[in-house]
Amino acid sequence: MELPRYLDARGNLSFVEQINHIPFEIKRTYWIYDVPGGEARGGHAFRHNKEFMVALSGAFDVLVDDGENKRSFTLNRSYYGLYVPAGLWREMNNFSTNSLALEFGSEHYSQEDYIREYDEFLNLKKNGEI
Ligand code: TYD
Repeated sequence: MELPRYLDARGNLSFVEQINHIPFEIKRTYWIYDVPGGEARGGHAFRHNKEFMVALSGAFDVLVDDGENKRSFTLNRSYYGLYVPAGLWREMNNFSTNSLALEFGSEHYSQEDYIREYDEFLNLKKNGEI
């Protein structure tokens, strides 16, 4: 999703609003930074948590997988946002130096909401449980 941009000789400004841009009520915001080269993060799915991701600085890829199809999205502009619905396997990789990933979530942090094993994800998907 392309977010609003206000280009100005003093510098640029972008913003997001819940509902207008982010299609859920935001309960949590976190950010990932200082990722060493070659590291991957976030190889998991959520049962309920929906996410909206922005590369505030630098770039990274998000691999999204519904159990049948995989697609990779490159976030490399601070005015690009990626909405990831619940029930999808997602992994972040190819972080550039000094990249800063901002993530909004629809749920408070809950370990129980995570599915960390890919086989379990595929089984839940196959049985229509997520
Ligand atoms: P984790 O979800 O494992 O990171 P990744 O998304 O890369 O898989 O989170 C790392 C640690 O941070 C984990 O011990 C839980 C903690 N954490 C919170 O306490 N609150 C949060 O909102 C998040 C995202 C993580």
